[in-house]
Amino acid sequence: MAQEIDGLKEIKPWQYYSEFRSKDVIWTEHRSKEYWEYRKKWSSIPKSMIVTDFPIHLDIETTSYCNLECVMCPRTIQSKEGFDYLPGNDVEFPMDEYKRIIDECAENGLCSLKLQYLGEPLADSKIVERVKYAKDKGIMDVMFNTNATLLTEEMSHRLLEAGIDDLFFSVDSIIPEKFEKIRIGADYNQVVDNIKKFMKIKKEGGYDSVQTRVSMVLFPGTKTEEIEAYKNFWIPIVGTVGFIEWVNHTTAHGDYEEYNPDFVCAQPFQRMFIRYDGTCTPCCLDAKKEYSLGNIHEHTIKEIWHGEELTRMREYQKTGRYREIEICRKCLAPVSKSSGEATPELV
Ligand SMILES: C[S@@+](CC[C@H](N)C(=O)[O-])C[C@H]1O[C@@H](n2cnc3c(N)ncnc32)[C@H](O)[C@@H]1O
Ligand code: SF4
Repeated sequence: MAQEIDGLKEIKPWQYYSEFRSKDVIWTEHRSKEYWEYRKKWSSIPKSMIVTDFPIHLDIETTSYCNLECVMCPRTIQSKEGFDYLPGNDVEFPMDEYKRIIDECAENGLCSLKLQYLGEPLADSKIVERVKYAKDKGIMDVMFNTNATLLTEEMSHRLLEAGIDDLFFSVDSIIPEKFEKIRIGADYNQVVDNIKKFMKIKKEGGYDSVQTRVSMVLFPGTKTEEIEAYKNFWIPIVGTVGFIEWVNHTTAHGDYEEYNPDFVCAQPFQRMFIRYDGTCTPCCLDAKKEYSLGNIHEHTIKEIWHGEELTRMREYQKTGRYREIEICRKCLAPVSKSSGEATPELV
C-alpha cells in the first residue's frame, strides 16, 4: 500500500486520493499506542463489516458559513442553485448541543473528530472552544480542513494551545493566478504566508505530535509539472501533500462508468456526519443531505448509528445492493475499484 519514491513515501489508499509524505515527518513518532490501534481499526472494522457499538469517528459541521466561493465546492454550487447555504442564512452549531454530543462521544470512547464539513471552520467563532472541549473530554484525534485564509498568528497559537491534533490546509494550485480563480476570495500569497507562520509557531512551541498536510484538488488536465512543483514546494514546509481527484458534484458517476460488483463502502462502518442543522448523513459525498439518518437534536448518536436508515445502508452494502441507494448509485468510490478500502485516510 505504501512505497518509497525518491525519499518520499507514497501512500495511495484510495483510487482518487493519494498522499506523499516526507520521511522526515516527526508527528508519527509522537502518537500513542492507542492512536495506532485506532488507525488499524479504521481499516479493519469496515473490512470485517463489524457494526461497532459507537462510530470510530465523527464529522461535525460546526458552521455553515464560508468566506470563499471555491468553484468546485458543493457549498458554492448549492448556494448558487438556491438549494442550501444561502447568503445570510449562516448558522453556527449550538454550543450546548455540541457539548452534549461530545459528552456522549467521550462516554463511548470516540477516537477521532473532524470539526468541519462544507463550511470554513476558522470562520466559526467558537472553533477554539470546541477543540479545547473535545480535547479536555479525552477525544484522541481532533482535526479539521481549512482554507487557511483566517489563520492568523494569534489563531495559530490558540489552536495549538487548545490541543488540535491535525490541521489540513486546502491549497488548490501552486500557480497563484490559477489558485485565485479556483479559490475565489482567497489571496494566494497570504495563504502561503499564513501556513508558513503556523508551521513556525508549531515548531517553536514544540507541538511535535501535530500532523499537518496541504492538499490540492486535481482537476482534469492538471499537468504533471504542476503536481511535481507542488510536492517540491510544500513537502519541505508541511511534511505531507495530498491530491484528491475533483468530484463533479453536478453529475452522477455511477450512471456512466462501469460498476465494481465487489465494492463495499467503508464509511457506514466507520463514521457519521452531523451537519450544521443537526441532520445526520452517512457519507462524505452526501453534500445535499439526500440520505438523512435522523436529526441529532432529536436523538443520541447511538440511536442514529443503530437506527433503521444506517442499518439498511449497511445491509445493502454487504449484500451487493448498494446501487439501490440513490447516493451510492451516483458515487465515485465504487467506480474507483477501491473495494472496501474507501477513506483509509481522513480526507
Ligand atoms: C469542502 S472543504 C471544507 C473545509 C474548508 N473550507 C477547506 O476549504 O478546506 C473540505 C475539502 O473538500 C475539498 N473539496 C471541495 N470541493 C471538492 C470537489 N469538488 N472535489 C474534491 N474535493 C473537494 C476542499 O478542497 C477541501 O480540502
Ligand atoms: S473554502 Fe472550503 S468550504 Fe469554502 S468554498 Fe472553498 S472548499 Fe468550499
